[in-house]
Amino acid sequence: MKNTTYINNKFIDHNKAKISVDDRGFLFADSVYELINVSNKKIIDLDQHLNRLKVSLRKVKIKYKLNKKKYEEIINKLIKLNKIFNGYIYIQITRGVAERKHEFPNKYSPTTIIFTKHLKINKKIYEKGVKIITIPDIRWLRRDIKTTSLLPNVLSKQLAVEKNAFESWLIDDGNITEGSASNAWIIKNSNTIVTHPANNKILKGVTRDTIIKILKKNGFNIKEKPFNLIEAKNAKEAFLTSSTLSVLPVVKIDNYNISKGKPGDITKKIINLYNNYISKNKTLLSRELKIA
Ligand SMILES: Cc1ncc(COP(=O)(O)O)c(C=O)c1O
Repeated sequence: MKNTTYINNKFIDHNKAKISVDDRGFLFADSVYELINVSNKKIIDLDQHLNRLKVSLRKVKIKYKLNKKKYEEIINKLIKLNKIFNGYIYIQITRGVAERKHEFPNKYSPTTIIFTKHLKINKKIYEKGVKIITIPDIRWLRRDIKTTSLLPNVLSKQLAVEKNAFESWLIDDGNITEGSASNAWIIKNSNTIVTHPANNKILKGVTRDTIIKILKKNGFNIKEKPFNLIEAKNAKEAFLTSSTLSVLPVVKIDNYNISKGKPGDITKKIINLYNNYISKNKTLLSRELKIA
């Protein structure tokens, strides 16, 4: 099936979309990105993702005018053309093409890439929960920036796969920061839910923010504070969140079973609350498109 990708103001066949070998995104990972979930044609938390993209651009000092209206139109068009029902939208902006020197070029024209992907939901992992391993957090100290500089995350995830686990939770200074591609949560008792504070040590997940809002609204006590491995292993329940995974139960941490190795009732309730929220998101497709 034909797959269309947006690259620098053009919509082209995904297989023909190319960037220069001199692109700083390729040479230095001098680039930022976003990944946005599409569920039943609904684009989840688009505004929050575009806001975070703006923040990332500002933090890495890429000069870029991000026009939200234009982005909505591009995304809408891609979703329509590529017939995305469940999947994701990937956006990457690099500092563009320049002679290979570490310092920023005096003048540059950022590269913009937006593509979509179909995703099949693996129901089993939600029914059974997943195992995670814990390993040292070897990343830099600006994890708040959503940069494509992801080699430590790649290596951490690979280690999990090699140990038949789903994800790695990363330990920095004795505390669990987050997963290689997700935020980490523990439930201490039926009402207290703990996740790492949103500082330079983690990516402030859009799903994390939404879950915090939903849970507060539903009377849960949210503690944004660091937690260590002992607290995690003694947790009543645990789960992880990300845009593509939503809320996923964690039932084993290293060799310790959590909530008897099965998804717990509170996690199930949170999954339901989040699914309700998702189903209420707007579909952009219903709005009129400027780009035909
Ligand atoms: C390191 C890291 N933390 C957290 C998340 C979750 O963020 P979000 O909920 O915005 O997808 C991701 C998602 O890719 C991630 O890569």
